[in-house]
Amino acid sequence: MSAPVIAQKSPYAVEVEAGKSYWWCACGKSASQPFCDGSHKGTEFSPIEYQADKDGTVYFCGCKHSKNGVQCDGSHSKL
Ligand code: FES
Ligand code: FES
Repeated sequence: MSAPVIAQKSPYAVEVEAGKSYWWCACGKSASQPFCDGSHKGTEFSPIEYQADKDGTVYFCGCKHSKNGVQCDGSHSKL
């Protein structure tokens, strides 16, 4: 598996709405970070769904190296 592109070495804070689905970009190539815009086409990556169960702020991983799925786990500080 090749490494994803590092979109930025910090998370994206996004206000999410309960009941909505969000498609996090796993490849790092999307122009509309932190979400997928289809740019992963031709790579081995595909977006990962995040379903919000409540309204609030979610810190989506921007470096694409989090071990905590779509959410930042601090791994960006070691890149
Ligand atoms: Fe990155 Fe779709 S553009 S996963
Ligand atoms: Fe990826 Fe923090 S932005 S782990």
